[in-house]
Amino acid sequence: MTLAELENAKAESLKEIAAANDAAAVEALRVKYVGRNGSIPALIKAMKGVPKEERPAFGKAVQAWRAEVEAALAAKGAGSSGEKAVDADLTLPGRWWGLGVKHPLSRVIEETAAIFGRLGFTVADGPELETKFNNFTALNTPAHHPSMDRSDTFWFGEDCLLRTQTSPVQIRTMMANKPPIRVICPGRTYRRDTTDATHSANFHQIEGLYVDTKPVSLADLKSVLAYFAKEMMGDGVTVRFRPHFFPFTEPSVEVDFTCHVCKGKGCNVCKQSGWIEVAGAGMVDPRVFGHVGYDAEKVSGYAFGFGVERIAMIKYGIPDIRWLYENDVRFLSQLA
Ligand code: DAH
Repeated sequence: MTLAELENAKAESLKEIAAANDAAAVEALRVKYVGRNGSIPALIKAMKGVPKEERPAFGKAVQAWRAEVEAALAAKGAGSSGEKAVDADLTLPGRWWGLGVKHPLSRVIEETAAIFGRLGFTVADGPELETKFNNFTALNTPAHHPSMDRSDTFWFGEDCLLRTQTSPVQIRTMMANKPPIRVICPGRTYRRDTTDATHSANFHQIEGLYVDTKPVSLADLKSVLAYFAKEMMGDGVTVRFRPHFFPFTEPSVEVDFTCHVCKGKGCNVCKQSGWIEVAGAGMVDPRVFGHVGYDAEKVSGYAFGFGVERIAMIKYGIPDIRWLYENDVRFLSQLA
């Protein structure tokens, strides 16, 4: 085909397309010109036979033809991938698919980071697969503590496990930094628990750690948690400490918030006690400082750790932890 013949063929093809007056005719012309065995692809395949010096100009003309044919077909409603032309009323309003909402666990984590961020805390991160040293030994856990048992913890060999708490991030943070330290560490944790309304083998915690060369006291811890309680749960919610034991803090406490539903008067949610347990906490044990190479004579600090699911459940009134993992939009969309 010469260039002149090509121009004629092009004019002819565009005329045919302009005259096509139904979807079937448009489709037939699409197949004829740009389909897999259409005349334009055939010309491209035959390029080798065109004398070398004419090839660039000829190639350009073929591409221009193809572009014009495709534009003309598209204007007639043909899909360039070959689907049939459809009659669509482009003036109809679109369908509303709805906006997604953030998962309650993400909300609690993000809100917590924002609240503690206002107090100068940054977010620290650590791996879910931990060493025995970081998860237990450096946290002063006695060698035969039941939490280390194979029936409680997912072990991978002698020294590797899925972390049972976010507390190992305390160890990593202190080993990598000098005081003052102010971090929170949100993340996934794992225990060999049988799933029920309040237990899950995989859940989330948020750890907090404050260490300074200035003296740090239990009163500092209480004021920070009281601020957190009010910001997260609303005015009128405050904290109380109950004596407890954790290997990595001394003294150790369990932390209750006043029930956010009855504000401490007593109701079904708090089983009439007016209080809801939310966290463990305490002053960092000097032995933990020893494990990370800090001088326990020169530094002091507090730590706390709470369950994200627990906070989400009481904040949003969710009765069953499993709802948080099933991704049922009928549940999730209620938090919009
Ligand atoms: N790691 C503890 C747990 O999983 C929670 C905890 C208690 C964290 C006291 C702390 C703390 O940092 O000081 O039960």
